Amino acid sequence: MNNLDNIIDFIKKSPKTELHIHIEGSLEPELMFKLSKRNKIEIPFKSVEEIRSAYNFTNLDSFLKIYYEGSNVLINEEDFFDLTWEYILRCKQDNIVHTEIFFDPQSHIPRGVNFDKIINGIDKALKKAEKDFNITSKIIMCFLRHLDEESCFDVLKKACNYKDKIVGVGLDSSEKGNPPTKFKRLFELAMKEGFLTVAHAGEEGPPDYIWDSLNILKVKRIDHGVQCLNDEKLVDKLIKEQIPLTVCPLSNIKLCVFDKLENHNLKKMLDKGLRVMINSDDPAYFGGYLNKNLIETSKALDLDLQDIKKLIKNSFKSSFLDEEKKKKWLKKIN
Ligand code: ADE
Ligand code: ZN
Repeated sequence: MNNLDNIIDFIKKSPKTELHIHIEGSLEPELMFKLSKRNKIEIPFKSVEEIRSAYNFTNLDSFLKIYYEGSNVLINEEDFFDLTWEYILRCKQDNIVHTEIFFDPQSHIPRGVNFDKIINGIDKALKKAEKDFNITSKIIMCFLRHLDEESCFDVLKKACNYKDKIVGVGLDSSEKGNPPTKFKRLFELAMKEGFLTVAHAGEEGPPDYIWDSLNILKVKRIDHGVQCLNDEKLVDKLIKEQIPLTVCPLSNIKLCVFDKLENHNLKKMLDKGLRVMINSDDPAYFGGYLNKNLIETSKALDLDLQDIKKLIKNSFKSSFLDEEKKKKWLKKIN
């Protein structure tokens, strides 16, 4: 076996965790089409092929428009179950043993979908995943940052009734012009209520948004964070404190954060000692699940086996698993 085959073999066989996946972003065109028929929701596409061919994005906002339109087909608890279950089957295929899933209730509630249907559909699929496949999981509710504080407080109040199911809160959607400072009071309350916190920052937005997510929102992980290399002092802090950065390479290419995978800065981040790992973000829209992200990135950036091991171990270390479970998995990788 040559070196690349070895690496691909290792990627496929290794137990892995995923920390940055929007469950609505795992809605494959086939299921979107099926649900649009089942729920009699019109979508602006005549076929699965037509849906796929619409996935050409120029930036984050051009993607979000299509992503929220796609989410319109999700109505009933069963839809959220089916969506989550399809993602779990991909986890099984990719040997993901633990996953931390984002969901966006504010993209469903205004359409008349009850919070309990969303969370129960997702949760039932995740419970079945643990029972059938031993795949463990956590649920993180994301606030849509293009909306106002009041709408976010409303949804936080709803989440407080589901603390047995939701472990944390995050911040996603359109980054530029929606700085972390807008949500200072919201994150203070979320923490007071006992939720763990993460935030998308430095995907398209400036390093200042990473600083503010850490210093003002006091988050435990930064989602994306690839813009950090433009600020040396920030890089020093991220290395010193080993703040996790949940990088999503195929997403960054599809959304034109980098022009091609060969120019992605992940290898530079890794070599500096930043705690980075690889994730799929919205795999149904960006052309691949976790293993494909790992394999394509390895090829493009010439990663070696040590790099891959580091990425996979970083992911386990940065998860919200308890220390004992982390230790067990890390030992298996070594
Ligand atoms: N929501 C779904 N995917 C996202 C991304 N990549 N950035 C911000 N918000 C998102
Ligand atoms: Zn994301």
